[in-house]
Amino acid sequence: MGTMKNYKRILVTSALPYANGPIHLGHLAGAYLPADIYVRYQRLKKRDVVYICGSDEHGVPITIAAEKKGVSPQQIVDQFHARNKAAFAKFGMSFDYYGRTSSPMHHQTSQEMFINLNDKGVFIKKTEQQLYDAKARMFLPDRYVKGECPHCGFPEAYGDQCEKCGSSLSPTELINPISALTGDKPQQKETEHWYIPLGALQKQVEEWLATRQGWKPNVMGQVKSWLNEGLADRAVTRDLNWGVQVPLPHAEGKVLYVWFDAPIGYISATKEWAMEKGNPELWKTYWQNDDTRLVHFIGKDNIVFHCIMFPAMLIAHGNYVLPDNVPANEFLNLEGNKLSTSRNYAVWLEDYAEKFDIDPLRYYLAAIAPETKDSDFVWQEYLTRNNSELADILGNFTNRTLAFAKNQFTGTVPARGDLDELDREMLSTIARAPDEIGAAIENFEFRKALVLFMNVARAANKYFNDQEPWRTVKQNPAKCATTLNICLHACNALALLMAPVLPFSAAKAWAMMGHATDVHQQAWDDVRHMELPTGHQLGRVEILFRKMEEKEIEPEIERLKNIQAQPDNKPVVAEPTASISIDELAKVQLRVAKIVAAEKVEKADKLLKMDIQMGDEQRQIVAGIALHYSPEALIGKKIIVVANLQPAKIRGIESNGMLLAAQDDQGNLSLLGLDKDVNDGASVR
Ligand code: 2FM
Ligand code: ZN
Repeated sequence: MGTMKNYKRILVTSALPYANGPIHLGHLAGAYLPADIYVRYQRLKKRDVVYICGSDEHGVPITIAAEKKGVSPQQIVDQFHARNKAAFAKFGMSFDYYGRTSSPMHHQTSQEMFINLNDKGVFIKKTEQQLYDAKARMFLPDRYVKGECPHCGFPEAYGDQCEKCGSSLSPTELINPISALTGDKPQQKETEHWYIPLGALQKQVEEWLATRQGWKPNVMGQVKSWLNEGLADRAVTRDLNWGVQVPLPHAEGKVLYVWFDAPIGYISATKEWAMEKGNPELWKTYWQNDDTRLVHFIGKDNIVFHCIMFPAMLIAHGNYVLPDNVPANEFLNLEGNKLSTSRNYAVWLEDYAEKFDIDPLRYYLAAIAPETKDSDFVWQEYLTRNNSELADILGNFTNRTLAFAKNQFTGTVPARGDLDELDREMLSTIARAPDEIGAAIENFEFRKALVLFMNVARAANKYFNDQEPWRTVKQNPAKCATTLNICLHACNALALLMAPVLPFSAAKAWAMMGHATDVHQQAWDDVRHMELPTGHQLGRVEILFRKMEEKEIEPEIERLKNIQAQPDNKPVVAEPTASISIDELAKVQLRVAKIVAAEKVEKADKLLKMDIQMGDEQRQIVAGIALHYSPEALIGKKIIVVANLQPAKIRGIESNGMLLAAQDDQGNLSLLGLDKDVNDGASVR
């Protein structure tokens, strides 16, 4: 499948996440992990590929979040841009560039696009009545207004969308609208806006879509249903003061609609990437040559923008490549329920990374990727997949092979002798694997790719069992040597084949095979004929995948259950506000504590377990400070802890309180201490 066209380079994008909140597993499974697997694979295929992402820093959700917290929108996006960029890095997302739409380059690029289309006479300018909040002295676009949905009657629908029935709305359609800013009933006031005439562009969009091949049915289906309804013109400007200024005279107080500027973010980030590479014109090769294969990875809520609106803009401009494919994913649910950020019903990347290893998550998410329909993340299944597949099959095979080679062949590769039927079968399974797995990845069938990969590990494990090297080592040493040679060959192949999905474990396995090179710099196709020379010295044997225990995931399941038990629509975590009352502050009990014992938590690089003394009371706490403090250096130190925080389990270890520490953008961390000595147990006010 796929397109027949001979592409010379690949440009991959993942949806730019809004920089008004952290990233959760649903995001990762939808738009980032599949793209990262795809890109890592293409790099190993030695193809010219660039992977672009970044923060979407405009739009009403950001200004509303800023108003709620009493800070500027810039402060919000600065914070989440840094946090999300760091979180993605931890999960191995291998972006070539992570941009942001508040950058000057982005503003300039978006304005150029607007001017280009405006000069061509593409836009329609309309004078219209819009909702206006007289008290706040501003128009109320999108989420600044709430009211009853005209389609389903949901009373809390937003001005741009009803979250109950999914209809897209415009503010003036809402029944009994109220301002989200003041709660007042808005007035109507005249204003002017620029519209992209999607109705007039529909035919061209359809002609282009008709040339697309290999699109997922769920994506093409949604696109067709939009087209069947007939495309409505869309306003590309808003009356707001946060965003890209409309670059025309007499357009003060008007900015580009966030869905006009956000996809242009892919272009501006590519420009910044090219500048960073010292070749500022290079972006054009990717965006303005039709032998570039452009692929947008997104979640299904973004389909209309990437398959209709952005292509319509690019068609109207005339000088850009259009996407070859948009392999949008459906949604990921969590323990049988929809994710909800407002109710904190989600697994956040930052939290996950504190407690668990990354590759088992990448593995499980790829295995249950919501490729054609919604899928469900279940902690228990995650644990089972880790233990019975990664640990028991892939890890076990690698470890038993290397341990055997270490014990019986002094940690070197023994010679391959005459082959029997099973040997030949195993070798041919390995030789076929790169093309079979590769075809699935190129077809955006990541679940299938993973099954094919795991089948190679399964076959290898079975081969080890069937050849019984522990028996032949005495009875037929030459045969034993051949078996081990082939098992090591399989380990070596698996180390490379796992690189797209399990990048951290691949590096570890590659080193265990005794290579000083970087597994991610190897050639995928070499798997077919890659040989380990006889006598090659293998590396140190380490556990590749740790078995997890039930008690590690129990607190996670518990937390989600508790949220589900709350009455509907009641946010569990109160939105942080600009100021809190003295009563609210008094709820937080801060006390001085003395660290009396500290030790590292096994298999958790960042965690320290400490016993602390607070007056008569001794407690245990766990904190992620191991990279900043050695256990010895902490003993006797007096610190400040939140004493009345609900006990929690971190990696199965009880933590009863939280210590306070300051951390800056560079990651420097310092525990909060005391200026003069006071007794432990003292309260902090
Ligand atoms: O849905 C979202 O999170 C959007 N911020 C995605 C934007 S994708 C692109 F157009 F930038
Ligand atoms: Zn509705």
